[in-house]
Amino acid sequence: MPEVQPYPERVKICCLGAGYVGGPTMTVIAKFCPDIKVTVCDLNEKRIAAWNSDSLPIYEPGLKEVVDESRGRNLFFSTDIDAAIRDSTIIFVSVNTPTKKSGVGAGEAADLTYWELAARQIAAVCNASDDKSPKIIVEKSTVPVKTADAMAQVMAASCLSTNLQVLSNPEFLAEGTAMDDLFRPDRVLVGGAQTPQGLAAIDYLCKVYRRWVPTEQVLTMNLWSAELSKLTANAFLAQRISSINSVSSLCEATGANVAEVAHAIGVDTRIGPKFLKASVGFGGSCFQKDILNLVYICRSFGLPEVAQYWHQVILMNDHQKNRFAKKIVSSMFNTVSGKKIAILGFAFKKDTGDTRETPAIDVCKALLQERAQLSIFDPEVSREQITVELGQEEMELVETPGDVNASCAGAHALAIITEWDVFKSLDYQRIYESMSKPAFIFDGRNMLDHDKLEEMGFKVFTIGKGKKQPDIDDS
Ligand code: UDX
Ligand code: ADP
Repeated sequence: MPEVQPYPERVKICCLGAGYVGGPTMTVIAKFCPDIKVTVCDLNEKRIAAWNSDSLPIYEPGLKEVVDESRGRNLFFSTDIDAAIRDSTIIFVSVNTPTKKSGVGAGEAADLTYWELAARQIAAVCNASDDKSPKIIVEKSTVPVKTADAMAQVMAASCLSTNLQVLSNPEFLAEGTAMDDLFRPDRVLVGGAQTPQGLAAIDYLCKVYRRWVPTEQVLTMNLWSAELSKLTANAFLAQRISSINSVSSLCEATGANVAEVAHAIGVDTRIGPKFLKASVGFGGSCFQKDILNLVYICRSFGLPEVAQYWHQVILMNDHQKNRFAKKIVSSMFNTVSGKKIAILGFAFKKDTGDTRETPAIDVCKALLQERAQLSIFDPEVSREQITVELGQEEMELVETPGDVNASCAGAHALAIITEWDVFKSLDYQRIYESMSKPAFIFDGRNMLDHDKLEEMGFKVFTIGKGKKQPDIDDS
């Protein structure tokens, strides 16, 4: 056998997992590489049917246009996972890796059940196939550092006939801006074994990205560096938010304005202006999960101080979410029982329908514990999805009229959780008139014109603006 088994000239790609990462990423590869056949697979038939329809399973601005351009030409969505694996040289694995709910590492470590099942399926298909040409497995989901190595070992042990190289190619797209992030990524990371076959696999995948990403932005490295870079990038980003959120609390106590502080520090080019928006707290499928993973890994490697350092980012985020809910209760005369509160936005950020780890869950649950009556409106989140997050029992006190003005009518308070643009242009004068008085607004995203709202008669509470809110109990 030659030292390096060559990969075929004609690239064929498939992806296991048609979620928020797999779907958009493969769509963009198909757009920029019209000669490459890209098949996106999922176990979930409903999800695949939606990808093949006019109403895509995820809301992402600009995605539909790009799907329409390539679907049926070189982009396919299928549930026939075995056929796709057989037919492809590059197999992306972009399956869910949620935080473990039970067993060793519960609450912190990643649950790798789906990843492992996918890996075993790839090995089984290769074993059964007559075609023994080498394949490249690309880890797209965030998995703990050194997992790719474990997977490589599992696959090597269960598939002796086919050379399977495992690469780590972490995804940095953010939901809501996925198309732009994929079109113009700051960087693409490709990590792999530093062996002749590993380097050949890295080069094969890099060539795909180089079709539209400048060569100097396609970074290659060893497997562990690529895996750890993803966790570290998310930990650093989340840390900035927790840092500014901690300062928001101090601003409220002292009379400073967190937006002014954020601007003042952000113009220092060493700090930079991004990810310094104080908020009700960060959510999403990555930040909390990745930091918990990092914490777990640090602890497993005997580094408890490092684990504790990063864990504080999560604790500060929990504190911020609780603080917001407490502020609502304390400023409404310490009771919200029986009061209608309109929750504006449920997704974890604007321009997505994703509710994973959204701060809305914590805020709503805290208010429901106080027996508030919630009227939730989000342009992209269905009642069904809200029920999944809050639980069927909690929904007794929750209405979802599907119209923002109906949610606000008769409410004692509005709580803005998601920064949807549409909330900026509501007719707040009309809303004020339709509400119970005194009418409160809790702006968890600091996105409205607070002076104007006060002129209308609202009692306005913000994150991190000391002015006029020194009497709030922040304990
Ligand atoms: C994040 C990373 O940005 C992305 O690179 C990685 O691939 C996946 O995780 P995502 O979770 O989709 O992306 O969204 P992001 O824009 O990072 O926002 C995460 C959370 O932080 C949201 O709840 C958002 O509202 C919040 N946030 C963000 C703030 O509260 N303040 C900010 O300044 C920025
Ligand atoms: P992400 O945000 O990381 O993309 P999602 O949960 O949106 O995560 O998507 C992961 C997808 O992976 C789900 O649609 C799930 O059905 C799918 N999946 C899980 N295991 C497999 C597998 N072995 N083969 C194909 N798809 C899988």
